[in-house]
Amino acid sequence: MKYAAPTLFMCILTLVAGMLPFSKANAEDLADWKLPPVPVPADNPQSKAKSTLGHQLAFDIRLSKNNSISCAGCHLPFAGGGGHTPRSFGQGGELGRWAPSWVNAAYYTSLFWDGRAASLEEQTGALPGHMGPISAPGEMGGDVTAIVKKLNAIPAYKKGFHKAFGEDATRQNIAKAIAAYERTLIARHSPFQRYVDGDKKALSPAAKRGFNLFRDKAQCAACHTPPLLTDNAFHNIGVPQVGPLKEDTGRYAVTHDEDDKGAFKTPTLYNSASFLFSMHDGAFSTMEQVIDHYNKGGDPKNAHQDDLIEPLHLTKKEKSDLIAFMKSLTDPKLNRIHRPRHMP
Ligand code: HEC
Ligand code: HEC
Repeated sequence: MKYAAPTLFMCILTLVAGMLPFSKANAEDLADWKLPPVPVPADNPQSKAKSTLGHQLAFDIRLSKNNSISCAGCHLPFAGGGGHTPRSFGQGGELGRWAPSWVNAAYYTSLFWDGRAASLEEQTGALPGHMGPISAPGEMGGDVTAIVKKLNAIPAYKKGFHKAFGEDATRQNIAKAIAAYERTLIARHSPFQRYVDGDKKALSPAAKRGFNLFRDKAQCAACHTPPLLTDNAFHNIGVPQVGPLKEDTGRYAVTHDEDDKGAFKTPTLYNSASFLFSMHDGAFSTMEQVIDHYNKGGDPKNAHQDDLIEPLHLTKKEKSDLIAFMKSLTDPKLNRIHRPRHMP
């Protein structure tokens, strides 16, 4: 009894002292999650004319062999540019990998699941000496020199390239226009980004609890780090290998480092709750499956699995809170990427 008053006093003091820095820390904490401006290479500044042209090119089957398939033929416009089959189908039949989303791809420091391309420009496959969808025999299978000729023979494209670059279509300009378009696909209007910007009502209580789980008990933020939700690194998280490939060594094919066996690039997660599939081989089709995979500690039998993947012991309610947070990362605008109104 004798100590009650001072104890109570101490309690209040601790509480007040503890709360002040907490609310400040919390605000700073949120700022850490704000998506930064998109990095733009010095030799390819953004312009409306360029991204409009890139949008048209991404939806044009004339960029492929026999006018058969466009970029958007594999990267589904209504699911943030993610593939509509677990593995993509190109000129060479079924590929070994799922077509990843275009949403926030502009932030990656390397492209493809194994990071073998250094920029969005290089990724397209239009640049000399770089294999990518336009030129890859198994994808669009095009002869890029012939495509350049074809585009310059279409008056509206010729005009579009002159407006964007002041010159005819070239291999470089095709790559630059498509990359400039991809740099416009940023999930700034997702409820989570609105919340980070100060709209406290943008997240439901469940999504807020999910956000805490994401960075605390569920350990997602260890790899899906703020602000991009990717560490731009490669990890083996024990995803089951499905599809035509018996084995996909992932990053190992690029580095030949044993530690990279079965490691894939950490994706940015924005819009992922609306993808029809996920993971390098499209192994999962619902967020529930993804969370269950992490919850059971991935695949403990996988000798190369990252040490950060271990059983999480999430309750049913925690799983559904985490899913509510994952849904708050979806920018509805980017699930409605339309075909350009005017095609050349
Ligand atoms: C035949 C289907 C298909 C077509 C057509 C296609 N892609 Fe892809 N795309 C894929 C697949 C599959 C991957 C993953 C391949 C890998 O990681 O090895 C991919 C990867 C990408 C990536 C990397 C994203 C990341 O997370 O690293 C981008 C960007 C991309 N494609 C853009 C394009 C563009 C632009 C075009 C048109 C020039 C295009 N794609 C055409 C199937 C396709
Ligand atoms: C050890 C690093 C690591 C941790 C921890 C981690 N992830 Fe991942 N995440 C990855 C990598 C790497 C991939 C891609 C793996 C693959 O394709 O084989 C991935 C893929 C995903 C995907 C699929 C997205 C897409 O575009 O295909 C989702 C969703 C996801 N993670 C959510 C989570 C959640 C939720 C947590 C916490 C429970 C979490 N991750 C924890 C590294 C991690």
